Amino acid sequence: MEVIIKKNYEAISEEAARVVKERLLEKPDLVLGLATGSTPLGLYKELVRMHREEGLSFKKVRTFNLDEYYGLSPDHPQSYHYFMNANLFSQIDIDLANTHIPDGLAKNVGKYCLEYEEKIEKCGGIDLQILGIGRDGHIGFNEPGSSLASRTRIKTLEEQTVKDNSRFFKSIDEVPRYAITTGVGTVMDSKEIILLASGKNKAGIIAKAIEGPVTSQITASILQVHPQVIAILDEEATSSLKRKDYYKFVEEGVKKFKKHV
Ligand code: GLP
Repeated sequence: MEVIIKKNYEAISEEAARVVKERLLEKPDLVLGLATGSTPLGLYKELVRMHREEGLSFKKVRTFNLDEYYGLSPDHPQSYHYFMNANLFSQIDIDLANTHIPDGLAKNVGKYCLEYEEKIEKCGGIDLQILGIGRDGHIGFNEPGSSLASRTRIKTLEEQTVKDNSRFFKSIDEVPRYAITTGVGTVMDSKEIILLASGKNKAGIIAKAIEGPVTSQITASILQVHPQVIAILDEEATSSLKRKDYYKFVEEGVKKFKKHV
């Protein structure tokens, strides 16, 4: 895992956008795995800016979102459909037919989830997956105890997750208790992954996920065995990492090396 430590939220957003842009220029029909939550908002804002000011085009990009609350319709203001449209899709030149988000109103959920996996496969798999991390270590909505080989399915949310996400709803009772999420195995099949985290309240879980043992109790910890993960984290989120100095030393070395080639 490559650990990149930046000063603050703005800097991690810019760094992540820089990587996305680089991959997009290499492969204009990139298959992007997208996340929601507050963390990737800065990245999306920066991608929108790059589209407007630098002509970065998303015309051929295909996207698959990690998850959606079960029971929320796409036009519900707290649905991840609404979030993606408002914060990214409506502001870039992406073809909406190429975007995929699990349907929170899917009827035959088992069949629906299988089809979602098939669609990813048909596109050739996810090239670059963007991830945030929940305070209990979840990626997507893969709560503690999720099989590390899990695929897209319906999950019951942890109390902590419901509490954390209640800030977006009028009251905690409105927060859905279920979600459709791609699995840990689905995420691990991505060719490359960017893990983003910012702020003090993520420091504890980031230390466990990156430097602790690999365990289904912290599903993000499985990223340690993926060959191509870039963790882009701000100072606050890295305050509990034991090997912080080493990661910074490595990054400096990479910068110097790049200057000479
Ligand atoms: C939700 C999403 C996750 C996200 C997490 C953290 O539970 N399903 O994909 O990583 O929230 O959100 P935030 O970035 O707001 O801390």
